[in-house]
Amino acid sequence: MSMINAALVESFDEPPHFRSIPAPEAGPGQEMVDVLAVGVHPATRGIAAGKHYTSPEVLPALAGADAVVRRADGRLGYVMVMGAGTLAERIVIDPAAVIPVPDGADPATLAATMNPALSSWGALRTRVPFQAGQSVLVHGATGNAGSMAVKVAKHLGAGRVIAAGRNRTRLDELVDQGADAVVQLVPDEAATAAALAEVAAEVDVVLDYVWGAPTELAMRAVLGARTQHTRLLDWVQIGGMGGDAITLSGHALRSNAFRILGSGFGSVDMQVMQREFTELVAAIAAGGMAVRPHPFPLDQVETAWAHQDAPGERTVILL
Ligand SMILES: NC(=O)c1ccc[n+]([C@@H]2O[C@H](COP(=O)([O-])OP(=O)(O)OC[C@H]3O[C@@H](n4cnc5c(N)ncnc54)[C@H](OP(=O)(O)O)[C@@H]3O)[C@@H](O)[C@H]2O)c1
Repeated sequence: MSMINAALVESFDEPPHFRSIPAPEAGPGQEMVDVLAVGVHPATRGIAAGKHYTSPEVLPALAGADAVVRRADGRLGYVMVMGAGTLAERIVIDPAAVIPVPDGADPATLAATMNPALSSWGALRTRVPFQAGQSVLVHGATGNAGSMAVKVAKHLGAGRVIAAGRNRTRLDELVDQGADAVVQLVPDEAATAAALAEVAAEVDVVLDYVWGAPTELAMRAVLGARTQHTRLLDWVQIGGMGGDAITLSGHALRSNAFRILGSGFGSVDMQVMQREFTELVAAIAAGGMAVRPHPFPLDQVETAWAHQDAPGERTVILL
């Protein structure tokens, strides 16, 4: 039996382990690909910890949620297989789900950047009727996905992008990267609410990576300060760094043209995602939108899992 190297989740309480496993075999309609690079994203960690809605029900299971792969004909591709695993030298995929990657693109950079960048790209292109010229608030802009959201919103034609986050240094960097205004989220709730009300009252779309209590505060501040309550506000839940739940008053909903929706794996048709993300891959490969990869070899997967990314970088496992 031919064997390959892989990273296996054997317990939700431990990092994935480097193991030798039987090579997979492609069934009818499937394709075997070589895995080149896998990003270790918050969702990747959450899946391996049993805390994500796509976490495996049976262990051991392959770790990894997405991958840059080389196909049999030599072309590069990007795949998302949430829950099925990608951290092995070879995996079997559905060829229809491969997002083409231009020749010459750096697999490590793409593996680091795609997951953070697609969160806002997918939201603005598929979940809300976003139009060029509209204004966007990124709530939780100092992480990789939030920082990418500032660039993506600008790239897609946003007229005004407001970055809200805790880290002052990162907020200042975001001004250099295109943010039109910033709001620092500080422990003083009244100060945070006043700053959001002053700067973000008239936004059209909120891309929210925080949720939980900070989002309750931000919603109250923005809705309370709106001068035109009939102007549509789409609030898109994308990440949950501040909690998984909010309490929302019915009054806030019915006294504003206010919609709350989510964007993520499961909320968008796979074919639509493939079309949209082909354009995103091309935009990343063209430069200007990148998360810095922090590479580890596959046999150091446990060290990789323990590594805490610095702002602007993402752990990537190279195979
Ligand atoms: N739905 C999707 O399609 C999709 C795709 C990608 C990511 N996501 C989600 O988006 C979230 C962020 O992902 P990421 O890749 O950006 O992770 P990341 O690079 O690790 O950044 C997370 C950032 O969140 C900030 N944060 C944590 N708690 C916060 C709070 N209470 N208030 C404000 N900011 C807070 C921290 O920034 P500071 O320390 O600087 O404050 C941290 O750097 C995760 O929940 C992830 O699962 C969703």
